[in-house]
Amino acid sequence: MAALLDARQTTEHYVDEGDRVLLDDTLSMVRARGGSVDELPGFEPAGPRRKIFFDPSKTRAGIVTCGGLCPGLNDVIRGLVRNLTYHYGVRRVVGFRNGYQGFIASHRYDVVDLTPESVRDINVDGGTVLGTSRGPQDPHEVVDCLERLGINILFVIGGDGTMRGAMEIANVIGERGARITVLGVPKTIDNDIPYLDQSFGFQTAFARATESIHAVTVEAKSTPHGVGLVKLMGRHSGFIACYAALARNDADVVLIPEVAFQLHGDAGLLHHVQRRVQDRGYAVVVVAEGAGQELLDGVEAAGDASGNTGLRDVGALLRRRFAEHFAAAGIEASIRFIDPSYAIRSVPANPYDSVYCVRLAQAAVHAAMSGRTEMVVGRWRRRFVHIPMAVAVSKRNQVDPHGDLWMSVLEATGQPVRFGD
Ligand code: F6P
Repeated sequence: MAALLDARQTTEHYVDEGDRVLLDDTLSMVRARGGSVDELPGFEPAGPRRKIFFDPSKTRAGIVTCGGLCPGLNDVIRGLVRNLTYHYGVRRVVGFRNGYQGFIASHRYDVVDLTPESVRDINVDGGTVLGTSRGPQDPHEVVDCLERLGINILFVIGGDGTMRGAMEIANVIGERGARITVLGVPKTIDNDIPYLDQSFGFQTAFARATESIHAVTVEAKSTPHGVGLVKLMGRHSGFIACYAALARNDADVVLIPEVAFQLHGDAGLLHHVQRRVQDRGYAVVVVAEGAGQELLDGVEAAGDASGNTGLRDVGALLRRRFAEHFAAAGIEASIRFIDPSYAIRSVPANPYDSVYCVRLAQAAVHAAMSGRTEMVVGRWRRRFVHIPMAVAVSKRNQVDPHGDLWMSVLEATGQPVRFGD
């Protein structure tokens, strides 16, 4: 879309349209890529443009939140509304209820008018004031609804499934030649969206998870041969488990989906935990919910409407195996298991995440007003950027078993590089 109008002069800071935030930030990465400096891949910087595409006085914006909860959703909604209204002077912003269902006539949800007044205090609470749901809806019906309401900009806050849905909506918009932009703010407490330094809410969630590690450590320490076990969210990526464990820096073992482990044998997990208990009186194990799924083959687990395959309960399995192992070894152990589950993601954002959410919202509004579409905003290499949706869903961010984060975890826990042969 071509830029048409001069932006309101409220800032000295404008983005240089020709600039790029580079994908790589080490010499070795650049060298490995080869080619000339002008060909280095990068992302468009986010931020205010001198020229904007939409005339604020005639622009209507909509906001929808989809998928699982994440600390900071309300901060993003509030940030979008405030920036659209105060910075650009957009007069109508509406919220769609309960994810993509909010566009579908048969669900009969009214849209919600969003104003700076109506969103004034929403960031005090976790969750999303708009409600959320999982699963796609017919993109034709979604675009019918957008056209009926005269929406020009749709902000979609959600994870990879949501962004795939947003791309389908953008396709239908393209087919119809409608002047509607679709802008994403990526959301995942698992921190598994690629090309983001970190996803919003992640820091709040892992900070909350440390409380469970602390509690289980106190329990394990206070009983003879105590074994503390904490299961944390992290379907395919173990970032929450790694960061929460590092924040406490007293776990004996961290188990993540990216690194398979064996239970039995001299080099297995059970022996290692037994040795720790015998050496220091207790042991603490932090496990990401997606770890060890291969040990539960044959156990049924229902998937969800987002298309996620179901997870089998690795926490219950470990608790059982620890109890059996210590009993067989003739050691009277106390196994303490905590699964904080939704408690880590239903809380309001901490101040760091709140700042991040506000800035993401501002970046999303600038991007949308300049006519960008099918983009998400994120922070990469500490700079705010536009990432094409197709790139943001092209792969999953995971803990690299050969990378420096996992090395820090191994150093902090003293666990072997792998459990098993
Ligand atoms: O994808 C984020 C996440 O929090 C995962 O860690 C977790 O498995 C999943 O959502 C659970 O969400 P729900 O119960 O809402 O499907």
